[in-house]
Amino acid sequence: MTALKNDTFLRALLREPVEYTPVWLMRQAGRYLPEYRASRKAAGSFLDLCKSKEFATEVTLQPLDRFPLDAAILFSDILTVPDAMGLGLYFAEGEGPKFERPLRDEAAIKALSVPDMSELQYVFDAVSSIRNALDGRVPLIGFSGSPFTLACYMIEGGGSDTFSRVKTLMYDRPDLLHHILDVNARAVTAYLNAQIDAGAQAVQIFDTWGGALAFGKYQAFSLAYMQRIVAGLKREADGRRVPVIVFTKGGGLWLEQIADSGCDAVGLDWTVDLGDARRRVGNRVALQGNFDPNALFAQPAAIEAEVARLLSAYGAGSGHVFNLGHGISQFTNPEHVTALVNAVHHFSRKQAVR
Ligand code: CP3
Repeated sequence: MTALKNDTFLRALLREPVEYTPVWLMRQAGRYLPEYRASRKAAGSFLDLCKSKEFATEVTLQPLDRFPLDAAILFSDILTVPDAMGLGLYFAEGEGPKFERPLRDEAAIKALSVPDMSELQYVFDAVSSIRNALDGRVPLIGFSGSPFTLACYMIEGGGSDTFSRVKTLMYDRPDLLHHILDVNARAVTAYLNAQIDAGAQAVQIFDTWGGALAFGKYQAFSLAYMQRIVAGLKREADGRRVPVIVFTKGGGLWLEQIADSGCDAVGLDWTVDLGDARRRVGNRVALQGNFDPNALFAQPAAIEAEVARLLSAYGAGSGHVFNLGHGISQFTNPEHVTALVNAVHHFSRKQAVR
């Protein structure tokens, strides 16, 4: 494997000295880029993009060719895992993800099992192909959904505003939800370890819906399972530590507990102050975030001011990876992303106390 030419992202995750604050963006490859829309059209559909290692490699590299980002993220989706469990993932035009066979009764829940990882070989092939194509430019991030976030889609059958089915099951039959989460946690552990074997140099667990849970329920139904995954992950590859990032959207109230999960870094949405978050987690973990993705709709001058504000809120010293507080919107102007990435590099070099 080629040596990394830019390992700033990995060093920041481990709170080692860096010359500037590294930056990548959740959903950095996607519909806001015209070149992505062209590739998707050529491939046929989003799932066709994910399932072809050539296309997955092409779209992973697109944002890196446009912006000086410090990490690449595997092009795939969190819902590949329940798809491999036999739930039948599909995308209805303009409606987001859906499952043909959601978990709607006790028999379906009891029948759920960890899929054979060969069902997900196309993901691992994409990881190897992307890692090769990167040729050491920047590190490659692998990812998975959290057991709870996956369960939301598996039970609701698609996106939801209220999570009424998941929450009903949680309060009426916690044993059944725990069974789903147990299967998901074992599947995600195997899935992330296989991504690491295929070449992923850091991994992120996306807990997009953990923040919808009540106090106490978050700890029991989301965090506990992420903790189990983190404990089961390979933490070294090619003689280097493979850092783990845990991102719970809406998890700002529970940062200390997330920081104690065994992860190397905690992802933050835009509702928390970076300086305050840093004081709360102490020297335990690095932080990733937390620019409001909607601020990218503003003009470059406003974007730059907001970047400067976040960098100074974090303050001097390593341990910060700049990112959005959630995925980038499809309506974002790519030129505004250029302004964001350049501002992160420029202002953090000036802050120069690392
Ligand atoms: O960050 C990256 O660039 C890597 C690729 C990535 C995708 N999905 C590609 C994608 C990642 C990391 C994800 C994670 C994901 N997928 C999450 C967790 C993170 C988050 O955003 O909360 C969730 C909840 C999903 C499930 C999912 N997949 C939804 C809700 C949707 C529809 C959303 C939308 O924007 O319409 C998808 C589809 C999807 N996943 C797209 C992309 C680029 C859009 C597909 C298209 O081209 O139409």
